Formats: sequence, C-alpha cells, structure tokens
Amino acid sequence: MPHARTALFASVLWLCSPVPDGGQAQTLDLSLTDPEAIAAQCGGDPNAGAPHFEALCSACHATEAGAESTGPNLHAVYGRAPGSLEGYDFTPAMDAWAEGSTIWERESLHAFLSDPAGHVPGMSGGGAVTDTVVRTDLMTWLRVNTTPPPPAPEDVVVPEEVLAMEGDRAYGEYLWGECAGCHVVSGEGISQYSEGLDRDAFIRALFEYRARARPNQTMQNVAGNLGDAEIAALAAHFEEIRP
Ligand code: HEC
Ligand code: HEC
Repeated sequence: MPHARTALFASVLWLCSPVPDGGQAQTLDLSLTDPEAIAAQCGGDPNAGAPHFEALCSACHATEAGAESTGPNLHAVYGRAPGSLEGYDFTPAMDAWAEGSTIWERESLHAFLSDPAGHVPGMSGGGAVTDTVVRTDLMTWLRVNTTPPPPAPEDVVVPEEVLAMEGDRAYGEYLWGECAGCHVVSGEGISQYSEGLDRDAFIRALFEYRARARPNQTMQNVAGNLGDAEIAALAAHFEEIRP
C-alpha cells in the first residue's frame, strides 16, 4: 500500500475535523455484527438495498471473498483504503485519487457513490446513485453483507517477517507526528499505552486494530491506513522513546 502515509494523515485530519452532517458520527462501528444494530447505525434498510445492488452494481462487482469480477471485489470494502485491493489493476485515475483519500466508510462511500466520475475524474465504473434513500439502503446492505465479523485478538497472526523487520527509525519518527497528538510522551511515559508495552506488543496491538480485533474505532482507522513497513518504522521509533 504505497499511499498509506498520505492516507493516514488525511484520516487523522478527518477524524479531528468538525462533522459536516449535523453531528452524527462519521465512521461506522465495524465491530458490530447484529444486522439490526448495523442498520440503525447506517440509517438504511438492508432488505430494500439488496435489489438495488443486484440491479446497479452486481454486473461488475462480486461481494464474496476472492470471487472474480470486472470491477474490484467489494468483500470487506468498508474499512479498506481506496484503490488498495491486492491483485486488482486500478486505473491511474483511481490510483491518483486514492493517494489523498481516506478509508471507505459511510461518508466517503456516500460522496463517491453519489457521483463516482465527478468524484474520481477519469475512473472507469458505474453510474451515480443520486437518490439518497436508494444509496443509503444499498450501503446498508453492503455493510451487512460484505463486512466479515472481527476475529478474536488471539487469532490475529503477526507474520514473523514483520517482527524481524528492521524499521526505518527516521521514517517512524516522522510518522509519529500523527500519533503524538493523542499519545503524549511525558516524564511519566506515554499516555494510553499499557505498562510494559514492548516493541513486539506494540506491533501486535497495531495488527489487532487493523484486523478490528480490538474495538477502538479511532485506532482501527489509524492502523487501517498503515502498511507493514510503516508499522515496523513506528515500532523502531517507539523502541527509542518508550519509557
Ligand atoms: C460498469 C461496471 C461497474 C458498475 C455497474 C459499478 N462499478 Fe464500481 N467500479 C467499477 C470499476 C471498473 C472500478 C475500478 C475503477 C478504477 O480503477 O478506475 C470500480 C470501483 C468501485 C469502488 C472502489 C473500490 C475500491 O476497492 O477502492 C467502489 C466502492 C465501487 N466501485 C462501488 C460500486 C457500487 C456500490 C456500485 C453500484 C451502485 C458500482 N460500483 C457499480 C465498475 C463498476
Ligand atoms: C485520535 C487519537 C489517536 C491517534 C491519532 C492515535 N492513537 Fe493510538 N490510541 C488511541 C486511543 C484512544 C487508544 C486506546 C484504545 C483502546 O482502548 O483500545 C490507543 C491505543 C493505541 C495502542 C495500544 C496501546 C496498548 O497499550 O495496548 C497503540 C500501540 C497505539 N495506540 C499506537 C498508535 C500509533 C502508532 C499512532 C500513530 C500512527 C496512534 N496510535 C495514533 C488514540 C489515538
């Protein structure tokens, strides 16, 4: 994921900026698994959304994990960085737009689907879904049907090669600028970190947020925009500053 750094910056700005839609939370809780709770949060009716997906999207998009289609597979699209799906060849237009964008979630999908070509000039793909009710029902159906339940923390695997990676400390220090607003280094240590958190546990924590095995949404978004090399770089910097 070459664009993780810009996407991370954008996502933190996004999380901290005033909410444009009248005070509703912008991000959805991706840990929810109960369809009724999801529908309440998304504000739509998944049953009404099913035929819209069938009519408007299914010709180009599969939603089952691993299935092939002409458009990118939409399994687990919520929480994914735009244009980041492994093995799918996005257009240069989409790549360029994705570089400055945040993860796919409620606000970003609404904006995109209401006018894909206007939003991402030059992309290939489907038409606009301008009716707000149709769009909301469709997105609620997508959220209910394409977001896998989060794994248990102990089921999250941190690959050996990531633990063995020597992170780029200078890059880690640079990236840390986006963490420092919430994780303040002081005489007493680093706020919000458990006592005794070491480098490997730090890496594991970020993997668990990225997999949504830990429920904190802010950190899910932060970690969702970090690639393995970024996590290793941050860990190298953390190793230097941890108490
Ligand atoms: C005619 C085929 C077609 C239709 C119909 C279509 N799409 Fe797409 N969609 C694409 C293609 C192709 C891309 C990749 C665009 C690119 O690389 O420029 C895409 C990209 C996307 C993305 C970004 C995915 C990612 O991983 O970043 C989302 C989300 C999406 N479409 C949702 C939808 C939804 C929801 C509908 C129905 C309302 C829909 N699309 C209809 C072909 C289509
Ligand atoms: C907007 C505030 C915010 C930002 C920005 C932020 N964090 Fe966090 N972070 C939190 C909160 C809140 C928690 C505690 C979440 C929980 O209860 O799981 C946390 C928890 C963590 C943990 C787990 C600590 C532990 O003891 O288990 C790690 C590791 C972490 N953050 C790393 C980072 C890194 C690295 C960055 C920057 C790339 C970052 N955070 C950016 C708010 C933030």
